[in-house]
Amino acid sequence: MKILITGGAGFIGSHVVRRFVNTYPEYKIINLDKLTYAGNLANLKDVEEKQNYEFVKGDIVDAIFIDQLFADQDFDAVIHLAAESHVDRSISSPLEFVMTNVVGTVNLLNAAKKYWTGEYLNKRFYHVSTDEVYGALGEEEMFTEETSYDPHSPYSASKASSDHFVRAYQDTYGLNAVISNCSNNYGSYHFPEKLIPLAINNIKNNKPVPIYGKGENVRDWLWVEDHARAIDLIFHKAESGTTYNIGGHNEWKNIDLIRLLCKIMDRKLGREEGASERLLTFVADRAGHDLRYAIDSSKLQKDLGWKPSLKFEEGLEKTMDWYLANEDWLNGVTSGDYQTYYTEQYSER
Ligand code: NAD
Ligand code: DAU
Repeated sequence: MKILITGGAGFIGSHVVRRFVNTYPEYKIINLDKLTYAGNLANLKDVEEKQNYEFVKGDIVDAIFIDQLFADQDFDAVIHLAAESHVDRSISSPLEFVMTNVVGTVNLLNAAKKYWTGEYLNKRFYHVSTDEVYGALGEEEMFTEETSYDPHSPYSASKASSDHFVRAYQDTYGLNAVISNCSNNYGSYHFPEKLIPLAINNIKNNKPVPIYGKGENVRDWLWVEDHARAIDLIFHKAESGTTYNIGGHNEWKNIDLIRLLCKIMDRKLGREEGASERLLTFVADRAGHDLRYAIDSSKLQKDLGWKPSLKFEEGLEKTMDWYLANEDWLNGVTSGDYQTYYTEQYSER
């Protein structure tokens, strides 16, 4: 099987590529990535020499390039992760999110439709999406696969739109498509614009840790390798046209999560208890900030037997150990453009 994985140089994509390259030596894995600020080939150093792996640099927004790639390579399947993924950036540059997340997805769908005609059932288009398409929850309910879409940020609106296009190509042309909507991931190779790696980096460097609003927002955290395992299962086992929610049953208010993280960091860095917590700084809230996400993943658990493998505290420890042991990676991604981004994003808050 020859599989095109898009966005494989990013956070989740690199874990999916690693899993597929190592688990299925008989497959050929082509990783297509534009290498934006979020894409980094250092995330895949351990698999880059493998026989069944190939990297292609390219932009999913470029329809001619995507068409040619499908003409040249006889793909059996696509696992589509390439996206602009950071909510704060979508608030300052919404159009980039429309281009990559909507137009880029439609370009891939068009190429799949054109080159797979007559053999749709033997092919598979797997679209990786997010729980943010469902909007925000109150205190009680959870998102199920039947929850209506209600996106609030330009990021989630663009992902919702891409999900609709995938379903439209399934319904209109018969494309064999599956979608999964996952909650917040954490783990190694997570770009430090996102809450957990940003906090680890700032605590390590004794810098203020920005908490939006009152820190009351709730996220449902899942270890990234459990997400990659779910993608593997769904890719191989799900029926065409199915959607699965993936989540950790692991809800944390931001403030509680960051306090826990500070406590563990104090221990790991040999600081006195409470030292890291003094870095917490409440800053202006994110516009349109969704209050709570929580995923009901019982369909995935029942149909395919998936469940999270790690307790959160265990996963957090592993993650912190990885960041402390991989200073070169962290220093590499936080130099240059990251400093400009950080100043623009946080100096006005
Ligand atoms: P990321 O930002 O870390 O990585 C995105 C990757 O896509 C990067 O390697 C980037 O270079 C590449 N890319 C961006 N624009 C491109 C383009 N135009 N052409 C080709 N490549 C391009 O993102 P992530 O956190 O790994 O998320 C991956 C996918 O999973 C996204 O679709 C996201 O919506 C979804 N998702 C993320 C989370 C999460 O918690 N991070 C949760 C649920 C779903
Ligand atoms: O739910 C899945 C989504 O999770 C994915 O689709 C997105 O791609 C991914 O980025 C993530 O979105 P969030 O907006 O939830 O993640 P982020 O790490 O940006 O923020 C997590 C929470 O922490 C959120 O409530 C905002 C808050 N936050 C974030 C940052 C960066 C802060 O309080 N301070 C910060 O500096």
